Amino acid sequence: MSEKRTIRIGLLGFGVVGQGVWKNIENNRQALELRLGAQLDITEVVVKNLSRERDVEVPAERYSDDPARVIENPDIDIVCELMGGTGEALEHTRRALELGKIVVTANKALICEHGEELFAIARRTGGHYFYEASVAGGIPIIKTIREALVANRFKLIFGILNGTSNYILTRMEREGLSFDETLGDARKLGYVEADEALDLDGIDAAHKAVILAYLAHGKWVKLNEIICEGIRDVSGEDITIAGQLGYKVKLLAVIARDFEAEKLSVRLHPALISKKEVIAGVDEVYNGVSVTGDVVGTTVLIGRGAGQDATSSSVISDIADAVFMLQGAPAPFISEEDEAVYNRLAAGLELADASDLQGRYYLRIHVKDQEGVLAKISNILAEHHISFATVNQKELDDGSALIMVTTHKSNELSIAAAKAALAKEPVVLGKPVSLRIFDPEAV
Ligand SMILES: NC(=O)c1ccc[n+]([C@@H]2O[C@H](COP(=O)([O-])OP(=O)(O)OC[C@H]3O[C@@H](n4cnc5c(N)ncnc54)[C@H](OP(=O)(O)O)[C@@H]3O)[C@@H](O)[C@H]2O)c1
Repeated sequence: MSEKRTIRIGLLGFGVVGQGVWKNIENNRQALELRLGAQLDITEVVVKNLSRERDVEVPAERYSDDPARVIENPDIDIVCELMGGTGEALEHTRRALELGKIVVTANKALICEHGEELFAIARRTGGHYFYEASVAGGIPIIKTIREALVANRFKLIFGILNGTSNYILTRMEREGLSFDETLGDARKLGYVEADEALDLDGIDAAHKAVILAYLAHGKWVKLNEIICEGIRDVSGEDITIAGQLGYKVKLLAVIARDFEAEKLSVRLHPALISKKEVIAGVDEVYNGVSVTGDVVGTTVLIGRGAGQDATSSSVISDIADAVFMLQGAPAPFISEEDEAVYNRLAAGLELADASDLQGRYYLRIHVKDQEGVLAKISNILAEHHISFATVNQKELDDGSALIMVTTHKSNELSIAAAKAALAKEPVVLGKPVSLRIFDPEAV
């Protein structure tokens, strides 16, 4: 029997994910190496702060704070960028790909902001950039879209791509807690990123939506071109009323392509979604992605969207693809002429204008509890061609009231104009809040 080849891996970053990769390769080494037909050797581990205590112990000679020991080292077959951020991680990824290396990453922010450049470098130099762990943690959504569902054109991909906001919405729903109360717990449990805007303002999930849009449609979309709204404005009342009406409130990423008009809509926002939809049942820190292909129909994947083990499972899956490639298998992309394929996928495809979005909406309006208020609100909505589907009212302890309505089909511009007009009314307290009602059948 021939000797197994040893594949040398360098880790840039040894935090939550990096240590998970080490630990899980060690734990499952025998089965993994049997499946891969190769030996895996993590020969270099690079960190920023050498004196920081780690849960996983690494032999001293493999441990450094010098990224060049991975990037410039001709013996390293696979570079894993598990540092995060878009500063040094960009420099190191650029350099490694310039050298024609295989880079495996979990860094969604970096791909979202610089993916176009980084994939172009990889194509030019013969390097490869793998990114399964960058979207939905342990859910193999990249490989599923890229390979298992390759027969399809994707009309709709939508789902829950941020576990922290899903955890907050779930607890608000189940325990009747406010956003702030739940956020406090999420912080204590270490679920919230140091930069809280990533989770709470939807930026993290929007990064992932941008990556999925590229993967499925070959089009790079910029974050500032799309609707990106987080969950800070969602209140307990919204969740309660939504529940009574048969909906859950979820932070949804939506990537919808109209193949006739050749328009692509990419967006990230909280939405009411029917409890009958599988994605509505994805709770706590779980992620879920629904993929509708023209051949397969709808497939839903649910799993752990973050955390050490789930994320390292995806990183190791990319390492495995890289190992097969290093042993002569073709690159697991659509074809070697990847760029041409992606250009053709996106040919003629335009980003839909966010203001063109149509659908049903939910509105919460805080009002003084006075006679004739409902009629006034109804008139303002009618002036903007918006009609009620349902109306609910809740008296508050201070004598004011919340009016919560769902509308028939309307559009972004009308809702924005109606909200602005309502905010100017003396009986309306504060700014009205709107949430979109997402119906996958109506996309
Ligand atoms: N955690 C998750 O659940 C999860 C899920 C999906 C994707 N991701 C992505 O995975 C990546 C890593 O996340 P993480 O949670 O593992 O982060 P983390 O725990 O903060 O670990 C980051 C690691 O990178 C090292 N590092 C940072 N800057 C460095 C530099 N300039 N030079 C050398 N080393 C440097 C840090 O060193 P020190 O330890 O010495 O500071 C640390 O070991 C990020 O892109 C993140 O978005 C994470």
